[in-house]
Amino acid sequence: MCGIVAYVGHKEAYPIIIKGLKRLEYRGYDSSGVSIGDEDNISLLKQKGKVSDLEDYAIDKNTKGSIGIGHTRWATHGIPNQINSHPHNSGDGKLSLIHNGIIENYDSLKQVLIEKGHIFKSDTDTEVLVHLIEEIKNHEQVGLFEAVRLALNEVVGAYAIVVMEKGVNNEFIAARKGSPLVIGIGDGEYFVASDASPFIEYTKNVVYLEEGEIVKIHKDKMLEIISLTNSTKTPYIQELELTLESIEREGFDSFMLKEIFEQPKSVIDTLRGRISPKTKKITLGGILDYEQKIMNANRIIIVACGTSWHAGLIGEYLFEDLARISVEVEYASEFRYRNPIINEKDVVLAISQSGETADSLAALELAKEKGATLLGICNVVGSSIPRLTHAGSYTHAGPEIGVASTKAFSTQIIVLTLMAVKMAHKKGSITMSKYHEIINELELIPEKIEKILKKNDEIEKIAAKFKDATNFLYLGRGYNFPVALEGALKLKEISYIHAEGYPAAEMKHGPIALIDDEMPIVVIATKKGNYDKVVSNIQEVKARGGRLIAIVTEGDKTVKELADDCIEIPSCLEQLTPLLTNIPLQLLSYHIALMRGCNVDMPRNLAKSVTVE
Ligand code: G6P
Repeated sequence: MCGIVAYVGHKEAYPIIIKGLKRLEYRGYDSSGVSIGDEDNISLLKQKGKVSDLEDYAIDKNTKGSIGIGHTRWATHGIPNQINSHPHNSGDGKLSLIHNGIIENYDSLKQVLIEKGHIFKSDTDTEVLVHLIEEIKNHEQVGLFEAVRLALNEVVGAYAIVVMEKGVNNEFIAARKGSPLVIGIGDGEYFVASDASPFIEYTKNVVYLEEGEIVKIHKDKMLEIISLTNSTKTPYIQELELTLESIEREGFDSFMLKEIFEQPKSVIDTLRGRISPKTKKITLGGILDYEQKIMNANRIIIVACGTSWHAGLIGEYLFEDLARISVEVEYASEFRYRNPIINEKDVVLAISQSGETADSLAALELAKEKGATLLGICNVVGSSIPRLTHAGSYTHAGPEIGVASTKAFSTQIIVLTLMAVKMAHKKGSITMSKYHEIINELELIPEKIEKILKKNDEIEKIAAKFKDATNFLYLGRGYNFPVALEGALKLKEISYIHAEGYPAAEMKHGPIALIDDEMPIVVIATKKGNYDKVVSNIQEVKARGGRLIAIVTEGDKTVKELADDCIEIPSCLEQLTPLLTNIPLQLLSYHIALMRGCNVDMPRNLAKSVTVE
């Protein structure tokens, strides 16, 4: 949710932190702030709005110093304003803290602290935490490291924090539980951030802090890590593969457009090394030891949120249709609270771009307690879900910065297809010729996506016609029903137009009442699947005067006669159509949002990585 950057070393901290915060703005962007330490002072600078607003505000302020912490916020407790933005200081002004997560018992802690004379300025849970650390530090007469540990033992909730102390200009303390934190190790300097992107140009050596770990970071010393129960931990240093180029816009106007256009390459990266060129055998190294378990599973329960949940629905069609394994797809947030029946024969598969989504993580924790096998499909290497699961596969889509997910979705479907086809092959539930047909078609997907991307101008023209609509309906059947849901979500997220996705046949049980001659209806009507049935649904829409945008297979005549606008996609196997039909819907949302003056990369109220409940 929120983004954290901290630096201690021999360079000026402020420019490093500001640049880092800009890279983390996808995590939250309603306000931001920094605390910079120099000699006996901490300059605390905060501002509502984007990081650039903070920069403008700080232009004539003192930003000197080689230690600092910075934060970009996605508000949970308290409205986005200057007072509620981070860092928050202790009552005596000696401690400054940034926090990502939610302190669930902040209210009861606050009451106790108020009784002890603490005065609070903001409405945040974070300010309570820094006062709690201050109280313990002063009362117990301990150093900051121990005070943080003791305070975190009283906290219920999720956090990634960094705390610095006035006058201590060579070290600070960080800790995590339920929210990500990674430490970059330089030469006489350390970086701390929510992900590695803020410091990628400085170092590739990182330590991912584990759940419940607290670390003392001194610029000239080795990291000192302890657990909440005060046992010493050894830091595990890893080398990053992330590159600076992969997190820059490379000439595109937005990250979202760049990421849409990257999809042919991302799909190639996801497939790379996973299909033998000679034998066409699928190898997913990450699940190799668990193949038997998946094959014999009672059922696969897919847990996910947002776009990843839509990919999960496509996974359900794939696994059931091809591998004949029963699948349930659950919103992670519902699953965790509904006392689900899970046992050791179940496989619980979490799908997540970030690998940090709080609800998906909690769903996995629950499944773990019940003895299920845990799998993950994630994009961010080394994130929390891959570390919690027994096995899994990375999507290798590369960093996705645009808040609305695009290439992550396509690559999640690719991994799900590989898994389902692999299982189907092992179980003998598809013929060898079907197996080869799917693999051959899969390998053609990148060039077919490329072909659809060439229709960008055509799609832009269609967008111009419909940009002022206030409601959209998206319809699809079978494999393309989840694509209709995803198309509607994309439009909602970035253009703020109300949009609903529906199974085409279900339309007559409700949404048909909404249709009038103002209402655009996007229908996925590709030749494979329930084509004739979708055509009937289209007739029903037309009879009520709806304005139709249809996604059709090249050469289609029937739907073309009925629809106001058509976007053609190359013909392909039914099971793989979501990989193609989804692309024009992404572009349609993108252009509509842009024409309405919306910020496509940072849509209002949303965040890329939702690390709170
Ligand atoms: C947020 C993002 C969505 C994303 C969802 C799940 O809501 O804005 O784009 O689909 O979280 O995120 P995950 O990282 O678990 O895929």
